[in-house]
Amino acid sequence: MALDFTKYIASVRDYPEEGIVFRDISPLMADGQAYKEAIGQLVDYAKDKDVDMVVGPEARGFIVGCPIAYELGIGFAPARKEGKLPRETVKATYDLEYGQSALYLHKDAIKPGQKVIVTDDLLATGGTIGATIKLVEELGGIVVGTAFIIELKDLHGRDKIEGYDIFSLMEY
Ligand code: PRP
Ligand code: HPA
Repeated sequence: MALDFTKYIASVRDYPEEGIVFRDISPLMADGQAYKEAIGQLVDYAKDKDVDMVVGPEARGFIVGCPIAYELGIGFAPARKEGKLPRETVKATYDLEYGQSALYLHKDAIKPGQKVIVTDDLLATGGTIGATIKLVEELGGIVVGTAFIIELKDLHGRDKIEGYDIFSLMEY
């Protein structure tokens, strides 16, 4: 029988600030069967798309993206925050609730024409994934899909990445 993944998400009230209900995936990762099955479903999604590379943003995008790439036998490229990548990079900025942040990819992370799936643990406002998509496309990659464990519907992240295929295991 299919697992109910929602059982493995901890909902933490008033974190990181009052009024926010934080959806924490760490219980899902801590359970070997649930983690394997969740990643397995994301792998099945990616398999249908003939993907060359997986890209995920720091830090929780690595938890999701690396096992997908490993399972498919393809590469993973990390999109990282300021000052973390040692070689030449491309940069994309995105809006936070207050101010801005930026993500970077190594210039040689993606080759022009490669098909890429972009992954993260969670889609909230879509700023992070939008910036990651921009980086991939600046390098000539083709984003063939986006995959998440959780989508927070009320934050309308979907609207920010309109036109891209989106797969999420759970919605809140
Ligand atoms: C969280 C989460 C996503 C992003 C989603 O990461 O893991 O990457 O926020 O929010 P958005 O759709 O509104 O951009 P965070 O920036 O907290 O970084 P972390 O993974 O390093 O904790
Ligand atoms: N959980 C985890 N990460 C997040 C959340 C959340 O509810 N909202 C924005 N990033």
